[in-house]
Amino acid sequence: MPVTLQDDKVIASIGQATVEIYHYGATVTSWKCGGKERLYLSSQSFLDGSKAIRGGIPLVFPHFGSIPESQLPQHGFARVSRWSWLGVQSENASEIVVAFGLDRSGVPEKLAALWTHGFKLVYTVTLTADTLKTALSAENTGPTAFTFTSLLHTYFAINDIDHVNVTGLKGKQYNEKIYNKYGVTDESEVISVTAELDRNYFNVPSEGITVVENNAVVRSLSTKGFDDVVVWNPWIEKAKSLADFPDEGYKNMICVEVGQIGKPITLNPGEKWTGEQLIR
Ligand code: BG6
Repeated sequence: MPVTLQDDKVIASIGQATVEIYHYGATVTSWKCGGKERLYLSSQSFLDGSKAIRGGIPLVFPHFGSIPESQLPQHGFARVSRWSWLGVQSENASEIVVAFGLDRSGVPEKLAALWTHGFKLVYTVTLTADTLKTALSAENTGPTAFTFTSLLHTYFAINDIDHVNVTGLKGKQYNEKIYNKYGVTDESEVISVTAELDRNYFNVPSEGITVVENNAVVRSLSTKGFDDVVVWNPWIEKAKSLADFPDEGYKNMICVEVGQIGKPITLNPGEKWTGEQLIR
């Protein structure tokens, strides 16, 4: 069956490729292609809807991180809300497209009270034998404008962080709040991780960001509608401080999170925006 509906998640497949998406957060928790798992999911992640899922592709909306003007939790409410299954959108021999939706009614009451705008989010996941496309659209269904930032907070599975780097960001500006670096231009061909890394890169290319392991490209990204990317690895101490993350987990993941954070998006009533990534 190309789609299996379970109480907590939906599994879609095309040939040997599969994708699993939880209703909670519309979080993609697994993407297998070529016989391998491509996303990292923490073995200690809560999957019961009591806490945002640690791994896969949590959705960040309506804001990245914590911001002084919002009392919403870090990264907003999308990843801790129960999304509705919108069904299979299309299907043929080489591709299956499924979608989830979220409006105010799916947001936990206490959080909805903190962000009172009328909105509709649609998350569309497209699986082929060797690609995964995830597209988030936001529509303003209320009477007043709202402004948001957003990310597809993708945790990629890797074998060993010591042999991994991210390429394609040379010449781009970044902020790194851990080390108090702001507006730095990255002059390196590759980003390797040897300590906690939490960089926000701005105005990045829509093609050519790659994750490289042992000198081979293991993932490459194409984006539309997203200008920015966060590259994150918690490294040793931060990994220990995360209750839902194994101490050694930082060795097996790198987050490359495409999104829109530098220039927030404003939607007037009736307006709609879409951002997407295609992972190969
Ligand atoms: C990244 C942020 O996007 O997410 C980091 O840049 C943050 O600062 C990380 O630590 C994980 O966030 P959370 O809320 O899932 O622990």
